Amino acid sequence: MTAQLINGNLISAQLRSKIKQKVTDRVATGKKQPGLAVILVGQDPASAVYVGKKVKACEEIGFISQKKLLSDSINQSELLLEIDNLNQEPSIDGILVQLPLPEHLNTSEILETIRADKDVDCFHPYNVGKLAQRIPYLRPCTPYGVMLMLESIDLNVKGLDCVVVGASNIVGRPMALELLLKGATVTVCHKFTKNLAEHVSRAELLIVGVGIPGLVKGSWIKPGATVIDIGMNRLKSGKLTGDVEFEEAAEKASWITPVPGGVGPMTVAMLMHNTLLAAEAKD
Ligand code: GUN
Repeated sequence: MTAQLINGNLISAQLRSKIKQKVTDRVATGKKQPGLAVILVGQDPASAVYVGKKVKACEEIGFISQKKLLSDSINQSELLLEIDNLNQEPSIDGILVQLPLPEHLNTSEILETIRADKDVDCFHPYNVGKLAQRIPYLRPCTPYGVMLMLESIDLNVKGLDCVVVGASNIVGRPMALELLLKGATVTVCHKFTKNLAEHVSRAELLIVGVGIPGLVKGSWIKPGATVIDIGMNRLKSGKLTGDVEFEEAAEKASWITPVPGGVGPMTVAMLMHNTLLAAEAKD
């Protein structure tokens, strides 16, 4: 392997420790602990693991956390009512509904019901729109976490040829907006893209978030590129792996994120960052 690793565990731990200090300082001056409510509908095991990590991070950092585990038989209006109650609850600064939701629920309507100033995931059209118009407030956790990883290696993306593979609402689209905001030249590839290999092979910065193990071949990577793998796939063997062929890509890249221990922990740290920001806005 010739690439250097971008260590998300380390960067996120530094960030969480700074947030923890800020929480201690606020509480010492009589301000309230930030509060995050996390809603999980149903029993998807992967979602349950993610929610568990978010709640644990809250506890470690000194936030109040409220975990709501709801049955997958809940209907739309019952879930909207839960969100309305949290919207009005003064101890709660951030509300997160873990996705994906069961199919009978209307995800867009649910995300739009979360008060925009409590939308710590940045999934509400208001906050996405603010980012699109270059006046971001709450920032999308995973893409913003990636931007901090790039900062940690002093990578200036202005004018850089960046290729984002994946165009989801959670990752690819907001990732492209964050890069644009910094002046990158951005190409977004998706399931209709012709000749993915050709696009990937000219990327100075490659960011992949699709959920298909090994989709991006190591041989496609431009020599010296920075490779950010947002994929998190569990193989039948139980091993966690990303969307990029790691060993082969690491032979060509100059920087690469591992899976696990790359982008994953950054998402949780940025959620904590957003929750603190939402609490501070009400001081
Ligand atoms: N499902 C996959 N990633 C995320 C995330 O960042 N936030 C929420 N709420 N659900 C997710």
